[in-house]
Amino acid sequence: MPTPKSEIRNPKSILCVVGARPNFVKIAPVMAACAGHPGLRAKIVHTGQHYDARMSDAFFRDLGIPDPDVHLGVGSGTHAEQTGRVMIEFEKVLAAEQPALVVVVGDVNSTLACALTAAKLHVPVAHVEAGLRSGDRTMPEETNRLLTDQLADLLFTTERAAESNLRGEGIPAERIHFVGNVMIDSLLHFREAAERLATWRRFGCEAKQYGFVTLHRPSNVDDPATLERLIRALSGTATSIPLVFPLHPRTAAKLDEFGLRQLVSESEALKVTDPLGYVECLSLMSQARLVLTDSGGVQEETTALGVACLTLRDNTERPITCTEGTNTLIGTDPDRLKTEAERILVGGGKAGRLPELWDGHAAERIVGAIEGFVACRH
Ligand code: UD1
Repeated sequence: MPTPKSEIRNPKSILCVVGARPNFVKIAPVMAACAGHPGLRAKIVHTGQHYDARMSDAFFRDLGIPDPDVHLGVGSGTHAEQTGRVMIEFEKVLAAEQPALVVVVGDVNSTLACALTAAKLHVPVAHVEAGLRSGDRTMPEETNRLLTDQLADLLFTTERAAESNLRGEGIPAERIHFVGNVMIDSLLHFREAAERLATWRRFGCEAKQYGFVTLHRPSNVDDPATLERLIRALSGTATSIPLVFPLHPRTAAKLDEFGLRQLVSESEALKVTDPLGYVECLSLMSQARLVLTDSGGVQEETTALGVACLTLRDNTERPITCTEGTNTLIGTDPDRLKTEAERILVGGGKAGRLPELWDGHAAERIVGAIEGFVACRH
């Protein structure tokens, strides 16, 4: 049985949860902003959902995030295994730490697992990047988003559409704070260093004379026919412009499993590489002529960089990247990919503009609101 709230809280303690690669980019500015607030003592809990050095340690180093205070070491597994293991381990951490608030970011399995564990113990939850909806319930992230938002006490949004989504799901307005985008806080902070790094040169490319590709969604890589179709389409585009393509471990594993490695290595202009660090990826994106992706974060990053982005999905939970930014949804039809890529190579693609409050100060707004919330409860 949980102890009544007033007795269990450690009033300064905030637990910030991270698990997978995009979480690290989002928590970095939040941790930095917390450091300027002596009324808060923020700790990092790493669930271990991503554990390869290049998927995790490299990001902590690049982004200057303090080492995790707690590591749950859960690793990979089915959805239930991963979510269940995080919950079991995180419950012990909550019991020991008795925090005033748990901060979760994004939409990965670790996000939902920790929000649910905290809510069950009556520990308040803040969700950074709340209210995004693709409307596609086959995406594991959509389930994570819907449920996390129902559990959260503080919901921080990146775009106005998110607030309408949340209000439509019955979330009271006073819980919702439109603060901007922490991923863009990181991007603006590291942009100059990324451009100086000029990572494109390592791949024998010239600025604005190459494309950048990321692909890892289960809907695109877990089915052999879909993955083969996409790789053939990318190889086709690479005949017009070289494409740098860092392989997510899920994608790499699927290429091996489906015997598609040979197809990838046949095309010299498809420059496949291991996962890259944050600043290297930012460097490559910043001077790319076009970006092809199925990632959520990359859609936002290309909008902030003003680089044309073709998203290999039928929907997006980040509509502002299409309505105001540089993003176009093209699905996975190879002919459409070819036409849209050619259009960008000839005409340059959408110019776009920076969305409201994507100004590098989202984390400060978040931490200000957290401080007010915690102070009110004690
Ligand atoms: C997860 C998130 C996804 C996010 C992505 C970013 C969920 C449901 N999905 O997807 O929203 O966009 O992270 O990268 O939470 N693996 C390794 N080493 C690692 C991590 C993973 O080899 O460090 C391999 C394992 O084979 C693992 C597979 O990748 O089974 C998938 O990892 P997992 O964390 O389950 O999902 P992602 O596809 O990475």
